[in-house]
Amino acid sequence: MTMISGQKINGSSSLLYEQVALEISGLIEQGTFRAGDRVPSIRQLSRRFDVSINTVMQAYTLLEDQRLIEARPQSGYYVRSRVPEIREPDLQSRSLITPATVTISDLCHQVMCDMTNRDILPLGRAIPDSRNLPIDKLNRIMASELRRGGEQSVQYHMAPGYERLRVQIARRVIMAGISAAPDEVLITSGCVEAVLLALRATCRTGDTIAVESPFYFNFLQMIAELGLKALEIPSTPREGISIEALRYAIEHNKISACLVISNFGNPLGSLMPDERKRELVELLTVNDIPLIEDDIYGDLVFGNERPSTAKSFDSSGLVIYCSSFSKTIAPGYRVGWAIAGRFQGEMERLKMMMNIATASPTQLAIAEFLATGGYDHHLRSIRRIHARNLSQMTEAIARHFPEGTRMTRPVGGFILWVEMPVGTDAIRLYHRALECGIGIVPGPLFSLSHKYSNHIRLSAARWDEQIERGIKTLGELAHELLGESNV
Ligand SMILES: Cc1ncc(COP(=O)(O)O)c(C=O)c1O
Repeated sequence: MTMISGQKINGSSSLLYEQVALEISGLIEQGTFRAGDRVPSIRQLSRRFDVSINTVMQAYTLLEDQRLIEARPQSGYYVRSRVPEIREPDLQSRSLITPATVTISDLCHQVMCDMTNRDILPLGRAIPDSRNLPIDKLNRIMASELRRGGEQSVQYHMAPGYERLRVQIARRVIMAGISAAPDEVLITSGCVEAVLLALRATCRTGDTIAVESPFYFNFLQMIAELGLKALEIPSTPREGISIEALRYAIEHNKISACLVISNFGNPLGSLMPDERKRELVELLTVNDIPLIEDDIYGDLVFGNERPSTAKSFDSSGLVIYCSSFSKTIAPGYRVGWAIAGRFQGEMERLKMMMNIATASPTQLAIAEFLATGGYDHHLRSIRRIHARNLSQMTEAIARHFPEGTRMTRPVGGFILWVEMPVGTDAIRLYHRALECGIGIVPGPLFSLSHKYSNHIRLSAARWDEQIERGIKTLGELAHELLGESNV
């Protein structure tokens, strides 16, 4: 006879695995395990309940079928959120795939300013919470590097940048499936500069760039500033950019480069599976189109295994890989990098012409932090925090937002994309939220073609009572707006 939670299992009415499943679903129901929590491992449960591994596996399969838990590769089983997931776009709709000239909106500028305004509750900004950054350690490292570095800390480290840092980065990107020599790494002032240099190196005024839709608004603005056109290709949370739609777009347009955020993209949090990354690189290589890959969130995976990159499938040097330490260590240090394949020389030349070099002290400090500061330990800690924050924010949205609200379910990063019922105007919500001292990013900024009018981007980088109250207020405002639209 087997004991579960002190109750006897006698196998009379249901099978053993069903009873194990019932026990776990009961614990989920009563809130012992909440959305995003890891449930006990198969081995733990088998020992704890004195049943076979097979029985627990069957129980977990049943719970997966009931959509109560989900497996995360290399990491275990987690309680699923019951909030409806975002809908996939209609990939058949070819009319979406027409290039558009980008118009710069004042709203973008205002939203960026909100993000640094300390009086505004940061519900939308994609910046890590300072409380989760290794500030004391970095300060100590910076002070000792400046003492130790002597003139190294004040002189230029011309492109490609400070060698010790390039060595550390070359070692780290092995985890992302990339093998690069230190000389193939170009240090930039953040990921944004890496992408800017990549666009400059691959495109000329008037050219068309294929981008995901929805897509990080700052890059849409950058494309506009460079006098380029953006071709929006539908993207989904599970697959990233649609390869099928991109193929169609390439057949019907002259595309000079493709720009994607391959892991935990902004705003969808999408994670392109390896197979899609491979297909993407193959499609672009056959058509001789450079791929600019932004992987700034890749290290923020919730599971144990860091996702791979499109660059890892690149055998012809057509992929320009861009990233930075802005989402993991210190956004204000402005240290990023590119591994640019056949565009490396041109990007180095452009970098030197535009700003000569990235600031030296922060390059020194990051190099030392990577070598001795426990970067992996730090990553493990912020991944856990973000996973928990995201699940708490998801649950709070489910409680407070109008019925019919859907959202993404990212397995890395800290960004949430929320689709409210049709009629809930995101721009009006943005303005009303601002009157209440709350900052969000309205969906229309993530497109050039007036899409996503009922979407918003939120950030779960921080979670506390103030943020929770902010979500409640936001939900009330969304209810109000929806009510007004129905009148
Ligand atoms: C996808 C993406 N790339 C780049 C950046 C900015 O990177 P950095 O601060 O390193 O220039 C952001 C910031 O929000 C981002 O979301």
